Amino acid sequence: MLIALLPGDGIGPEVTAEARRVLDAVCGSALSYEEAPVGAAGYRAEGHPLPPATLDLAKRADAVLFGAVGDPSCDHLERALRPEQAILGLRKELVLFANLRPAKLFPELADASALRPEVARAIDLVIVRETNGDVYFGEKGMRTTPAGRRQGYDIMSYDEDEVARIARVGFETAKARRGKLCSVDKANVLETSQLWRDVVIEVARDYPEIDLSHMYVDNAAMQLVRNPGQFDVIVTGNLFGDILSDQASMCAGSIGMLPSATLDVNKKGLYEPIHGSAPDIAGQGKANPLATILSAAMMLRYSLGKPEEADRIEAAVAAALSAGHRTADLGGTTTTTSEMGDAVLAAL
Ligand code: IPM
Ligand code: MG
Repeated sequence: MLIALLPGDGIGPEVTAEARRVLDAVCGSALSYEEAPVGAAGYRAEGHPLPPATLDLAKRADAVLFGAVGDPSCDHLERALRPEQAILGLRKELVLFANLRPAKLFPELADASALRPEVARAIDLVIVRETNGDVYFGEKGMRTTPAGRRQGYDIMSYDEDEVARIARVGFETAKARRGKLCSVDKANVLETSQLWRDVVIEVARDYPEIDLSHMYVDNAAMQLVRNPGQFDVIVTGNLFGDILSDQASMCAGSIGMLPSATLDVNKKGLYEPIHGSAPDIAGQGKANPLATILSAAMMLRYSLGKPEEADRIEAAVAAALSAGHRTADLGGTTTTTSEMGDAVLAAL
């Protein structure tokens, strides 16, 4: 099976290198890899954040393992050439619309959570975030108002098929877990959200066994820190899911811990840590590779049909934490990126 390895920018290469070592240890020659530049690295190498050869590799591969993109030195470029366009382009071109972001507290990390340990301990949820539509992909631009003032605009929209498609992933995910689905929207203000809510209720007829609730996004942000244990699966749009998943990550200990999978209808997927490229600590061996290692485990489980290997990796991560290894984001002072990788390998 072929893995497209797209390390990207900043800490991306460091964390994907550790994930690769773990995959080699668990799967050996069952997986082969081809690496390609993406993000600012793609722009430097080929003049585009998502070079055609990189996109082609992602399409050919059985799964994509992605690091992170983003580089402040590219902030002056026109939007189409900025590193972030690489991940947006991959999601769109490969029709990766279902972004699964599990947030679960490793018991060893209760003290690393931004929440009190007794509140944090209850977190075990999955955010199902739509990633092909919403304000991310609507018409956008800069224009001048009649009064001669500059105006930026980004159009938010969802059609009913897009909502139904992600709603089904939400219901199916809930079915495989504790049977609770909370749909997050802003239906008190946005027409996009009104349609979202109506369609989720329609799809719910096919899932009578699922306990469905609806919540406005502002309330959801509040409830996530007040009582995160109330959530099982959250289904939401692209923008709200982006924000809530960063928030959930800190509730669960550290943004350096959260993996993600973004799937198409056939469960082909792109796997990436939810964190960004962290240019401020790039190349210093400070980054936590666990989110990427856990993303590799998700890849084995969802796209490559290797659930036992995925379990082994997740158990090894837990063991490395139990043994006391902590990168800086987890409050550690000495453990480097590669030492954390070593600790996972030792536990395997
Ligand atoms: C994420 C990131 C991306 C997003 C950026 C890098 C475009 O924040 O995957 O959460 O907004 O989707
Ligand atoms: Mg984000």
